[in-house]
Amino acid sequence: MTEVNKNHLSWDEWDELHNPPPAVTDFDRVVESAISRRGFLGGVLAMGSAAAAMGTLGNLMSSTSAQAQEAASRFPFKPIAIQTDATVHVPEGYSWKPLAKWGQPLFSNVPDIDHEKGVSVEHSDKVFGENTDGMESFLIGTHQVIAVNHEYVNPEINLPHAPEGVPQSADDVKILQNMQGVTVMEIAEGENGWEIVLDSPFNRRIHHNTPMKISGPAAGSELLKTAADPNGTDSLGTFNNCGAGKTPWGTYLTCEENFNGYFGTTNADFQMPDDYKRYGIAAETRYAYEKFDERFDVAKNPNEPRRAGYVVEIDPSDASSTPIKRTALGRIKHENAAVTIARDGRVVVYMGDDERGEFLYKYVSNGIYVPGGDTSKLLDEGTLYVAKFSDDGTGQWLALTEETTGMKMDEICVFTRMAASKVGATTMDRPEWVAVNPVAIEAYCCLTNNSRRGEVKDGKLRTNAGGDEMAVNAVNPREKNEYGQIVRWYPDAEDHTSEAFKWDLFAMAGNPTVHQGTLYAGSSNINEGNMFNSPDGMMFDSTGLVWILTDGEDSDEGDFAGQGNNQMLAGDPVTGRIERFLTGPKGSEVTGLTWTADKRTMFAGIQHPSAPFPDGDGKLPRSTIVAIRRDDNALVG
Ligand code: FEO
Ligand code: CA
Ligand code: CA
Ligand code: CA
Repeated sequence: MTEVNKNHLSWDEWDELHNPPPAVTDFDRVVESAISRRGFLGGVLAMGSAAAAMGTLGNLMSSTSAQAQEAASRFPFKPIAIQTDATVHVPEGYSWKPLAKWGQPLFSNVPDIDHEKGVSVEHSDKVFGENTDGMESFLIGTHQVIAVNHEYVNPEINLPHAPEGVPQSADDVKILQNMQGVTVMEIAEGENGWEIVLDSPFNRRIHHNTPMKISGPAAGSELLKTAADPNGTDSLGTFNNCGAGKTPWGTYLTCEENFNGYFGTTNADFQMPDDYKRYGIAAETRYAYEKFDERFDVAKNPNEPRRAGYVVEIDPSDASSTPIKRTALGRIKHENAAVTIARDGRVVVYMGDDERGEFLYKYVSNGIYVPGGDTSKLLDEGTLYVAKFSDDGTGQWLALTEETTGMKMDEICVFTRMAASKVGATTMDRPEWVAVNPVAIEAYCCLTNNSRRGEVKDGKLRTNAGGDEMAVNAVNPREKNEYGQIVRWYPDAEDHTSEAFKWDLFAMAGNPTVHQGTLYAGSSNINEGNMFNSPDGMMFDSTGLVWILTDGEDSDEGDFAGQGNNQMLAGDPVTGRIERFLTGPKGSEVTGLTWTADKRTMFAGIQHPSAPFPDGDGKLPRSTIVAIRRDDNALVG
């Protein structure tokens, strides 16, 4: 190579020199297999060799993003810039206000949170919990009801009297247990906008000690029996409620994600069973429940953690109903549960398992959904599948049965990760929410990031906790993937029960300013004006726009320069265009999205802000649901 005159390099050339692109093989795969095969990225497939593609990538990206710009915009808002401050921003012509904040009462005889002392144990199961996450709204008669998850607690701020938030008593543990789980609450619109209806008969807190039924193939299994529940059918509590889902028959699905963190032991002699490792159950915990509540001591109750990690069905119309853990949907670190009804009426539920190198799942019911009919077995009797993505843009749903896994049905439901490993599922870059397009037969999943994708340690490729390798492949095309991507699949025969599908990447997040000309710039629908990292939450609105919520690095520096705080964007599935709608306060994740029945208000969740929000200086940072409306009262979804 002749000497390069560094003073006369174009930005592309300079970047190529300083940020050499990844290996040609990786790039080749991406070009041929990963980037969208349809519409807005059209032409990519026509590229021949990787070398040819490499030379034209810059042009390809700019020309296709120009196409996207020209495409008629379906976005009813003017996109906003990034922010790095401590509040929420929405587009011109929209406004927001808090609907529900951590520690806010659901009943009239309960005080609001004390900004110095927190919430008392007595009131801790009667207030809006901490760390709002997935949510759904329900119109029950004329009542607008919201069911919403409280994923976890920050012990330090819930227990201000306890050093470093480590519980000092059973009461301390009880506070933490009560501030998580689910809130069901009625809301109503008055002079001050939408507010919680205090004392509504719908209002309810579900927490770590709420009685639950266990149903499906693992109900009554030896794996789930405990001294307190010798039948293995009645458990207590739902844990680490992350994303959510909604059935067509009006129930709420809450998804247990990092349940492993609540179960531990101080008994150094206890031999951890093999399955604990795959799920990350370890002796030491952050919450110290096991010191004050022996149900959580795995040396005394080794089956207790096997009773968590499920999708739990809740009837929001009846505050006295018992939630049901649906074991047929598998035991994983459940992110959300995206429900759709297939052509023949069978119920299909898509679910991600959010951990590095874990899998994407689908459940298909045996029975069909008939409005007004019996729905009690639809989430108990069916087949669980796991996804295998091929580099040629096709994929398969692999059934997890006794025949395919060599495991018994209860084992498949309780040790689902191991069952999926046995059939050769594709290790993914942390599957977060799945969303099903209501106006086209396709579904999307946010693969949030995977710092270990393609990494070699001690001469070996990194694996998931079960030993499945995380090689770079077409659907997870980048080593040390810090930005994430959104995969989309099209079921064969336009039928969500099909065992085969085609797929592409709807978007690869990235930073086109820092990494111009490499895969880390992102796909062509990512630009300086809309860039983000770590897509996580995702919901379709009724118009067919897909809303993307982020949970990523918000330093706004280095690889993340120009990306600002976490945010919410809207994507157009047809043109691929993506625009920023909302930015959250510093330190927060934006997660959870739903709409009122009249679609004039949208609710978005602001989880774990780091600075005082929304009450202002000197007050606690409060995880909050915000209500967003258009000033002209037009529809917002
Ligand atoms: Fe609770 Fe994977 O997010
Ligand atoms: Ca999430
Ligand atoms: Ca996340
Ligand atoms: Ca979170």
